[in-house]
Amino acid sequence: MGQAATTEKVRFAAIGTGTRGCELLRASRQIETAECVAIVDLYDSRHDAGREAVGHDLPATRDYRSILDRKDVDAVFVAVPDHQHRRIVEDACAAGKDVYCEKPMSHNVDDGFAMVRAVERHGRVLQVGSQRVSNIVYTRAREIWQSGALGDVCFIEGVSGRNSASGAWVYPIPPDANEQTIDWKTFLVDAPQRPFDAARFFRWRCFEDYGEGLSGDLFVHLLSGIAFITGASDVPQKAQSTGGLFRWKDGRDFPDLIETLYEYPGYRVALRCNLNNASGEPITFYGTKGTMMLNGNTLTFVPQDTRPQPEGYSLIGWPERLKSQYLAQWHAEHPATGQLSEQALSSTYSAPQGYSDVVDHEAVFFEAVRSRKPVVEDVHFGNNMAIGCHMANDAYFRGTTVRWNAAAKKIEA
Ligand SMILES: NC(=O)c1ccc[n+]([C@@H]2O[C@H](COP(=O)([O-])OP(=O)(O)OC[C@H]3O[C@@H](n4cnc5c(N)ncnc54)[C@H](O)[C@@H]3O)[C@@H](O)[C@H]2O)c1
Repeated sequence: MGQAATTEKVRFAAIGTGTRGCELLRASRQIETAECVAIVDLYDSRHDAGREAVGHDLPATRDYRSILDRKDVDAVFVAVPDHQHRRIVEDACAAGKDVYCEKPMSHNVDDGFAMVRAVERHGRVLQVGSQRVSNIVYTRAREIWQSGALGDVCFIEGVSGRNSASGAWVYPIPPDANEQTIDWKTFLVDAPQRPFDAARFFRWRCFEDYGEGLSGDLFVHLLSGIAFITGASDVPQKAQSTGGLFRWKDGRDFPDLIETLYEYPGYRVALRCNLNNASGEPITFYGTKGTMMLNGNTLTFVPQDTRPQPEGYSLIGWPERLKSQYLAQWHAEHPATGQLSEQALSSTYSAPQGYSDVVDHEAVFFEAVRSRKPVVEDVHFGNNMAIGCHMANDAYFRGTTVRWNAAAKKIEA
C-alpha cells in the first residue's frame, strides 16, 4: 500500500515544469485530493514557471533524486523529454513513489520494458499521460463500439494536422537560456555528449537523441484513444510508413509528414501526421453499420443505410421487360423495407464547454494512488502504445514493413 492510502491528500512533486509540467500543475489545482509539494527542473526559470502554475511558493530544485528521498512525497509527475523517462521512472519506483509519466512512455523498446520491470518489481501505480483515455467523449465512443452499432469495423483512420511554427515545434528560445541557467549535462544524461545547444534543449522533439518526432508526439495520442475505444491495447502486428521532410528543414532528424498503416488482428489502422496543413485531429471508425468520428471533444455517429435495396445501376443495361420482371420479383421477396429504426439515427455528443480531460486523467491517477486499484493506461498499455510509435519510425527510416516479435520483444524488418 502506498503511503497516500492512509492520508487525506496525495502529496506529489512535479519533475519537469516546462510546457507540459506547467499544464499538469495548473490542472491539478482543480483536484482537491492532491497537493504539489515540490518542483524540479534543470532550467532555473522553470522553477518560477512551476511556482506560478501551482499558484504559490514552494521548494524547487534541479535534482530530482533529492525529492525522491523525501518521505512526505507519495507520487511524482514525470514531464521531461522522452529520453529521460526511463531513468526517472526507475528511480521513482525504487524510491517507492507512484508515477504519472508523460507520453510516449518510452524513448525506445528497451526503455519501455525496463520501466515495466521497475513498476512491477516495486509494486507502484504508473499511469501514462495520454489524457484521451479519461475523456468522457471517448468513454461514450467506447460504449458505441461495444454496443455493436458500428457493425464490423475493418478500418480506422487517425489524423493530426498542424500548420504553424509552434505546431512544428520551432519554439522560441527564452532570452536567459544559457549554460549557467540550464544543467545541460544532466539534460543529455545517456544521450551523445555535445556542446550546449539551446535549440536542442527547447526543440528536443525534432531530434532522435531525445524524442521520436511526430509518431512519439502525436501518433501516441491517436493510438491510445483508439486502443481505449476498441479495448485492444496490444502492439500492432505490422507497420509500414511513408512520408518526408518537405518544409521544416531546420536540421531536424524527423519528417514533417508521416503516414503509417498498421495491421491489427481484427482491423487496419491508418495514421497520418502532417505539419504542413491544419486539418485538425479526427479519428474515424468505418463500420458496416455506421461511421463514428471523434474530433476534439465532439463525437458524431452516422449510420450506414443497410436496408435492402433492389439493384439499380446494372439494370441500366437491361431491357424494360426484364427490368420489370426483376423488380416485381424483388419487391415480392422484400415486402417491408420500412423506415430506419431509431438506433439508426445520426447522433452527436459533445463535452461541456471548458471540459478538460487532463483534469479527469489526473483525478484517475490520484484516485489510484489512494485506492491502489489499477488504471486503464497502465505501464503495459503505455508500453504497447509507445512500441506502436517506434514501429512507425522504424518502418519509415528502414523503408520497409516492420513486424512485432512479441517473444523476442523486438521490432523486426
Ligand atoms: N499529454 C500531452 O498532451 C502532452 C503534451 C505536451 C508534452 N507532453 C509530454 O511531456 C513531456 C515534456 O514535454 P514538454 O513539452 O513539457 O517539454 P519542455 O521542453 O517544455 O519541458 C521539459 C522540461 O523537463 C526538464 N527536464 C529535463 N530533464 C530533467 C531532469 N532530469 N530533471 C528535471 N527536469 C528535467 C527540462 O529542463 C524542461 O524544462 C514529454 O514527454 C512530452 O511528450 C505530453
